[in-house]
Amino acid sequence: MDFQLTEEHEAIRRTAREFAARSVAPIAAEIDKQARYPKELVDEMGELGFMGIEVDPDYGGSGMDPLSYVIAMEEISAVCASTGVIMSVNNSLVCDPLRKWGSHEQKQKWLEPLASGEKLGCFMLSEPDAGSDAAAQKTVAVRDGDHYVITGVKNWITNGPQADTGILMLMTDKAKGHRGISAFIIDMNGEGVSRGPKDDKLGIRASHSCQIFFTDHRVHESQRLGNEGDGFKVAMSTLDCGRIGIAAQALGIARGAFEAAARYATERKTFGKAIADHQAISFMLADMATEIDAARLLTYRAAALKAAGKRHSVESAMCKLMASEVANKVAKNAVQIFGGNGYVSEYPVERAYRDAKITEIYEGTSEIQRVVIASNLIRALG
Ligand code: CAA
Ligand code: FAD
Repeated sequence: MDFQLTEEHEAIRRTAREFAARSVAPIAAEIDKQARYPKELVDEMGELGFMGIEVDPDYGGSGMDPLSYVIAMEEISAVCASTGVIMSVNNSLVCDPLRKWGSHEQKQKWLEPLASGEKLGCFMLSEPDAGSDAAAQKTVAVRDGDHYVITGVKNWITNGPQADTGILMLMTDKAKGHRGISAFIIDMNGEGVSRGPKDDKLGIRASHSCQIFFTDHRVHESQRLGNEGDGFKVAMSTLDCGRIGIAAQALGIARGAFEAAARYATERKTFGKAIADHQAISFMLADMATEIDAARLLTYRAAALKAAGKRHSVESAMCKLMASEVANKVAKNAVQIFGGNGYVSEYPVERAYRDAKITEIYEGTSEIQRVVIASNLIRALG
């Protein structure tokens, strides 16, 4: 086991850190406050090759490995978790299933503009009555010759207000349950696709999500991703990868909050000494650093398994569970270390505290990660 990062990994860390400091940090608080989608940052991430990090250069991507993606996600999310998730959805939830399940023609048509940053993607699995129970799909597609006609509603779709292309899961054969779910590639500007108003959220306010409505939307069968009935496997295998990205986002939130708190603790004085010299505060910092490192190691392991082409459902669930819970604990304690200053938006830990919560909810709640881990462990015991 080699804990040394390669030169390529160090290079992407430098590039992502410089981008975060140069372009993201100066506007991170403002875009949160205004709930403004940062198009200029998304364009710059496209130019830097961050919108399709693992995609083959033949299809417009950067051809790097999963660990490079994790490193870039952590660096960007340490400064702005909204920018992090916009990038993460495009990479892991849209480019990844197209890479894995798409034909050469589908990759040329749909993947290339997404990976190069020319277009933006979204992933549409959740519905008003199908969140954790993702197989309970009510959106349907009915065959009509070599087309399908789609009707239904999708909920809380990240990048929904801006997306050009979407990956959509729905029922093609209700009688078959999860084996009747299929996946489609959607032109989000097509006839019969409409978007609700953006959700007003607690955190990640510069990342926009909304409902998507399908009203007799017609797609050609060449837009089906995989075979009829493959859709649940497309979704679950995509989430195995996506959860690594959200773990990296959570790591970033935790690290950003920790660094701010550690700095503040050496500057703020009470009872004649820096608060870092009170053991209650220094022990909090010690726990934060240790837990962030543990979450990072789990995340790197899941990325390494993905790079090796091994199944990593459990390891992805573990790193997402751990990193999201660490992010919440670290952000909460960072606010505590800042005292009253932690509660006002002048300091960045207030935003980190709000941003951390979503990492325990999307791409599978913490309870669902425990379901995935436990069911796999129990199955392995025979
Ligand atoms: N890879 C491939 N196939 C998988 C799989 C995986 N990781 N996990 C399960 N499957 C297959 C199983 O092999 C099984 O196949 P067959 O029966 O055909 O052999 C089938 O899927 C059903 O498996 P389960 O019985 O385990 O499925 P379930 O209905 O009990 O649900 C679940 C399992 C883990 C709870 C799943 O519904 C789930 O992950 N729910 C959470 C949904 C979620 O994470 N949504 C995220 C939306 S995207 C998002 O949130 C993005 C964002 O915010 C930015
Ligand atoms: P529910 O499934 O109703 O769960 C409610 C509670 O019950 C939770 O605490 C849950 O853990 C618990 N629970 C449910 N079932 C079980 C069980 N079996 N065992 C134990 N506890 C259980 N979805 C997309 O498809 N694409 C996106 O881009 C996307 N982006 C999102 C962005 C935001 C900001 C938000 C808020 C959500 C987004 N989602 C997206 C949806 C997200 O994935 C779901 O909200 C999440 O999977 C939970 O589903 P739910 O909200 O329906 O909660």
